[in-house]
Amino acid sequence: MSITAIYPGTFDPITLGHVDIVSRAAPMFGELILAVAGSTSKNTVFSADERVELATNVLSRFPNVRIMKFEGLMVDFAKKNGASIILRGLRAVSDFEYEFQLAGMNRKLMPEADTVFLPTSEKFTYISSSLVREIAKYGGDIGEFVPPGVKEVLIKKLAAQS
Ligand code: COA
Repeated sequence: MSITAIYPGTFDPITLGHVDIVSRAAPMFGELILAVAGSTSKNTVFSADERVELATNVLSRFPNVRIMKFEGLMVDFAKKNGASIILRGLRAVSDFEYEFQLAGMNRKLMPEADTVFLPTSEKFTYISSSLVREIAKYGGDIGEFVPPGVKEVLIKKLAAQS
């Protein structure tokens, strides 16, 4: 049986931590949908379409990974696309409480789906998209936190916004 999993997030921008999760999860499922949240309470630097484009470029080497944008409830999007697994990365114990709540609520909304957590590889546990954006904003080197190509696009975007 081919299982479709959904990996939802903001991905503003996609980091090496996200790529680590995708590269380890992709072989486990028939299809993995990286679902980029369009409307989010986060004040994003990139538009949803730009976040989709970045992720699409970065993940093009994974044949069973599809990058899609979604609006509204994640579970509605998961149902529409036949996903039965919700994939999330866990970086540290501090992530757990929020993730546990999110998983519980998603289970309530979509009992037929289960959340699967993958521990982030040790070298990426301290990365977050907002830290990457902040370091880039102040001229720090983000080269070891983001995939090739993302650094340049982010620096250009931040310069255009300042
Ligand atoms: N490596 C590096 N960074 C990681 C990571 C990893 N493996 N896993 C998570 N992160 C970072 C992200 O970059 C992000 O950093 P930021 O806060 O600095 O932007 C942070 O950890 C967690 O964010 P993210 O994974 O993008 O998830 P989120 O909490 O922003 O998104 C959604 C959560 C979008 C999945 C959730 O809000 C959602 O489903 N929204 C749709 C509406 C909905 O259904 N709501 C009801 C929910 S019950």
